[in-house]
Amino acid sequence: MLAIGCDHGGFKLKESLKRYLEELNIEYKDFGCDGETCDYPDIAAVVAKAVASGSFEKGLLICGTGIGMSIAANKIRGIRAACCSDYYSAKYTRMHNNANILCLGGRIIGPGAAEELVDVFLNTEYEGGRHQHRLDIITRLEEESAQ
Ligand code: RB5
Repeated sequence: MLAIGCDHGGFKLKESLKRYLEELNIEYKDFGCDGETCDYPDIAAVVAKAVASGSFEKGLLICGTGIGMSIAANKIRGIRAACCSDYYSAKYTRMHNNANILCLGGRIIGPGAAEELVDVFLNTEYEGGRHQHRLDIITRLEEESAQ
């Protein structure tokens, strides 16, 4: 199950991607917003916490650029949020970073490109192996900075 959210800058793209997910029978829960002006860190926090808790396998966050959402989501322990606008990054952030949230820019990419990014993000497995050691370092940094 996918947790999704946006601010006003990402609303149009979120609505379009919801229709796409429905066509593919991919289950999601929409954590808002409903198009009104809002603060992206509030939405990022709700979606990131839902993913970090284990209730949702992955998340999708959309703001104007995708950058604010990724900065905010990455403040939540256990979250590896990646802001992507190209196919290679969306693929390799799964393979090498085991990213669990994809952030997109609603003012940057159109619906067709966004669908391809969502597809590859959802369907690419983490490689593990040598990459796990690096993720362990990130987890250690997270723990150190929480002290
Ligand atoms: C909202 O205007 C905009 O700042 C937001 O959507 C996002 O792009 C922030 O990173």
